[in-house]
Amino acid sequence: MSEESKPQRYASWTTGKLPLPELGEMKRRGDKIVMVTAYDAPSGRLADAAGVDLILVGDSSGMVVHGRESTVPVSLDEIVFMTQWVTRGAKRPLVIADMPFGSYEESDEQAVHNAVRLVKEGGADAVKLERGGTSVARARAIVGAGIPVMGHVGLTPQTATVLGGFKAQGRTAERAQQLIEDALELEAAGCFSIVLEAVPPTVAAAATRALTVPTIGIGAGAETDGQVLVWHDMLGFYEGRAPRFVKRYAELGEAVVEALERYAEEVRSGSFPEAKHTYAMPEEEQASFESARKPRLS
Ligand code: KIV
Repeated sequence: MSEESKPQRYASWTTGKLPLPELGEMKRRGDKIVMVTAYDAPSGRLADAAGVDLILVGDSSGMVVHGRESTVPVSLDEIVFMTQWVTRGAKRPLVIADMPFGSYEESDEQAVHNAVRLVKEGGADAVKLERGGTSVARARAIVGAGIPVMGHVGLTPQTATVLGGFKAQGRTAERAQQLIEDALELEAAGCFSIVLEAVPPTVAAAATRALTVPTIGIGAGAETDGQVLVWHDMLGFYEGRAPRFVKRYAELGEAVVEALERYAEEVRSGSFPEAKHTYAMPEEEQASFESARKPRLS
């Protein structure tokens, strides 16, 4: 069947969206998976243009976009809205919506209900939740409802207080073993991929070998199947103290301040706007406008 003669119901076959099973194939081939966070339509579009594979609408938005101290207060509605914006901009990458704290802890029913909202209202392709333990059953329930789930172990910011703060995890033999077991349980529950955050590279490498699904590392060394970075961290927009695993690929914050300073200077000096930034009026209309404005002679 030619592309043109395909009926409308086959349209999704031709949208160019990265098929989810391709991630497993990438692991098997040894092709690294590239993931980045995004929170609005322009960042979704730019990530797509750069050829990234996965976009995470992360609850890191609470800190890097909304200026909060942690990810804990982020609401489900916020993630739904941001996922709508990102999916308007990003077409090829799979868009994964983070389930914020409080949106899946109570019961499997709550978890499924909220995951469905992220997919139906937000347009997400998949969801992500944090931790092993009770999250394993939640992941299983959401997968059972037909929604792909990404797990997340190691430093799990939603429960950072229990972990003793934002610090590296799996640094004793026992904790490292527990972390790998959590990841294996999440895989057995049906997760298609697991994020490993802030764990020693040897532990991440062991987890990556033990799992058949791909691992995505952040602060977990080079041997995971893919990497994720937070948009504002990697592009130089975040002012706070960035974790040591962040690499800044650009200093866009500085570029923005420089541009705004130039703009302010030009407004104040009157050199902006120039004629090319204004709209012309047809000559005869201009003449009629001006004569109507002439003071009337009595
Ligand atoms: O919210 C987020 O951005 C994340 C990544 C750091 C993995 O969970």
